[in-house]
Amino acid sequence: MSARIRPNVLRMQPYLPGKPIEEVKRELGLDRIVKLASNENPFGPSPKAIAAVQAAAERMHIYPDGAAFELKSAAAAKFGLPIESIMVGNGSDELIHLLGLILLGTESDEMIVGDPSFSRYDAAAHLVPCQLIKVPLDRHYRHDLTAMAKAVTDNTKLIFIANPNNPTGTIVRKSELDKFLSEIPQDIVVVLDEAYFEFASHLEEYPDGIDYVKQGRNIVSLRTFSKAHGLAGIRVGLGFTTPEINDAINRAREPFNVNCLAQVAGVAALSDDEHVAKTVANNQKGLDRLAAAFRSVGATPIESFANFACADFGRPAGPIFKALLQLGVITRSGEGLSMPTCLRVSVGTEEEMEIFEAALQKVVPVLTSA
Ligand SMILES: Cc1ncc(COP(=O)(O)O)c(C=O)c1O
Repeated sequence: MSARIRPNVLRMQPYLPGKPIEEVKRELGLDRIVKLASNENPFGPSPKAIAAVQAAAERMHIYPDGAAFELKSAAAAKFGLPIESIMVGNGSDELIHLLGLILLGTESDEMIVGDPSFSRYDAAAHLVPCQLIKVPLDRHYRHDLTAMAKAVTDNTKLIFIANPNNPTGTIVRKSELDKFLSEIPQDIVVVLDEAYFEFASHLEEYPDGIDYVKQGRNIVSLRTFSKAHGLAGIRVGLGFTTPEINDAINRAREPFNVNCLAQVAGVAALSDDEHVAKTVANNQKGLDRLAAAFRSVGATPIESFANFACADFGRPAGPIFKALLQLGVITRSGEGLSMPTCLRVSVGTEEEMEIFEAALQKVVPVLTSA
């Protein structure tokens, strides 16, 4: 007899992560794999974080600090916010789920997202009764904030804006965001998911979500240690918001949601500006290379401000993804990202970029002539 699982859960698609390196090695019998599928840091973790985790490993028989005091204090000092405004999560993924849980819960509640955008927003909506309103990106693959403002109703509770957006890498500008925020009711919670903040923050027109939190608006700025800091495997994310929203998250979260190693890794990573600067400098060069590589095979790159870039190949990207995989290069096909003719590729080291460029040159002309 089958269990009576909630129908909304059965309608959810399990998250499809980038293919793991070991799995591809096993399946294809290859020794060298280049993974450019999950927007990780090609230089690895901050060395300071590695040292901190090694030192803390001896204490992992003790429960972590459920209040994550050291990590929140370090973030409070760095970003100039009171500790009551700081949330920590088991990756920012967890904070996305929790925001859905604390804000949505009746069939009439509405949540608005761009389309395509980060798939975990949809998951947050599917886990609770609510209506998910998906507003297509504009023709430049950017959030259409005018259309999103028009989609707002009296029932809108929550809006997610990934800035830069995943999978497109595009940004909304400060002037556009200011206009949008002035047009919608102030009690709606707007989440600025800034997972790729460090890669875009040099742009003058790029808005910093923390500035809006400081104004006391119902804004959540989400940041992660998984990208520029290189800590994707240990799972730790940060959020900045009003004490009221943070208090609700605090009630709903698991008591020890961020483990003891993740907490010390986060504190150390926040002090390692050098690692972030090195990562960001490599990223700019990598984005230029990716755009040139895409153009060289006739694909149209989307201008990206994140640590990955997408390009439109004008035909299904699945076969290109598969052909690259055969050569040991793991990318992300847009077929699973609601952009079926696009390929998304993360920035790697110089050597990884060279391998990708060579593989793409090899694969795309072959497919074209096939
Ligand atoms: C836009 C966006 N938000 C959030 C996340 C999740 O990050 P974390 O590893 O902190 O859960 C990702 C990861 O790819 C992302 O692209």
